[in-house]
Amino acid sequence: DYDAGPFVPEAADLAALREAAAGCAGCPLFREATQTVFGSGTTTARLMLVGEQPGDQEDRQGEPFVGPAGGVLTRAIAEAGIDPAQTYVTNAVKHFKFERPAGGKRRIHKAPNLREISACKPWLTSELHLVSPEVVVALGATAGKSLLGSSFRVSQQRGVPLTLPSPDGNGDEGTLVATIHPSAVLRAGDQARKDAYAGLVSDLKVAARLLR
Ligand code: URA
Repeated sequence: DYDAGPFVPEAADLAALREAAAGCAGCPLFREATQTVFGSGTTTARLMLVGEQPGDQEDRQGEPFVGPAGGVLTRAIAEAGIDPAQTYVTNAVKHFKFERPAGGKRRIHKAPNLREISACKPWLTSELHLVSPEVVVALGATAGKSLLGSSFRVSQQRGVPLTLPSPDGNGDEGTLVATIHPSAVLRAGDQARKDAYAGLVSDLKVAARLLR
């Protein structure tokens, strides 16, 4: 089945990991995407934020959360009192998945499926090992499923500290806080948008308070 595992170098640092990820062909998403979008930040980051997958802008620029959803996230992080220099930002899936309606030029985001999410998990696991953050924030359902399993539901599990199981079962557990994806704020209508944004900030504050 799809699996990034064979592409992930052992005992690599972040730079080596990023370089290897550029050549990942662990699932078919690399074929249509412009490039791999690896995580951004340093190994000393105390908070890791995990999104879904790169969007159109991220796919072009090669950096996570540099498009419209990134704008929302950057604002919300600041409002939650989190120092961006203390964050490592990445995605559950590292290639942009999209379709072109009616063969046009526009690239419309498509949510990654469970096969693609689990194929890409070895990259996220390696990032978690190297960065070893105090707290992980799952932004939306895809990140939650990748980190907690397919039964994860944002609406039921957001905004409270959850146990992050160790991906390889070595007992090295961590703390996770789930929240909505910042693009859900953008999709919401006028009044709902304010509430959605406030909810995102309040969940991020829960994560901030957990930092030692
Ligand atoms: N949405 C995501 O989940 N990740 C990005 O990097 C950009 C948009």
